[in-house]
Amino acid sequence: MDEAVIAPETDVPLGELRQLYGAVGWTAYTENPELLGKGVAGSSYVVTARLGGRLVGLARAMSDDATVCYLQDVLVHPDVHRRGIGRALVRAVLDRYRTVRQKVLLTDDEPAQRAFYESLGYAEIRDFGPGTLRAFVRYD
Ligand SMILES: CC(C)(COP(=O)(O)OP(=O)(O)OC[C@H]1O[C@@H](n2cnc3c(N)ncnc32)[C@H](O)[C@@H]1OP(=O)(O)O)[C@@H](O)C(=O)NCCC(=O)NCCS
Repeated sequence: MDEAVIAPETDVPLGELRQLYGAVGWTAYTENPELLGKGVAGSSYVVTARLGGRLVGLARAMSDDATVCYLQDVLVHPDVHRRGIGRALVRAVLDRYRTVRQKVLLTDDEPAQRAFYESLGYAEIRDFGPGTLRAFVRYD
């Protein structure tokens, strides 16, 4: 199989976004496509993976380009999992924000996610030990 093209991209067509987010079952996004389009367009940095022109992966980040970088939505089409595409997407984001010290992300509590992010140098807050870090999130 061809190698995926990993590159920053702006203006990813909404139809392609819906297909990709739908393929991984992220219905909270696909049920509100307008919000999905707005979220991707408003991100600080969007990197995509394309195979023969087809959108097969995406990662996006929010950052002040100085002190913090929040990674949001790393997704790869199930047809092409475990071929290094997810890793390449995150590495592209990490490279873009290599001068930023604090990199943060929130993800599902599943073994695959833990293995994936640990393989990229992220550590879970619980592994920092008691009295070090605490994470909070609020959903409205
Ligand atoms: C998580 C996800 C992005 C990984 O993408 P991917 O392209 O399949 O991952 P890669 O091939 O780059 O994997 C890199 C490493 O992560 C780990 N990993 C990835 N998927 C894994 C799985 N299902 N089980 C265990 N380890 C896994 C492995 O260490 C892997 O290296 P290896 O294949 O050499 O063993 C993909 O499974 C996905 O899109 N899932 C649905 C959306 C999601 O949950 N995203 C993450 C939350 S934002």
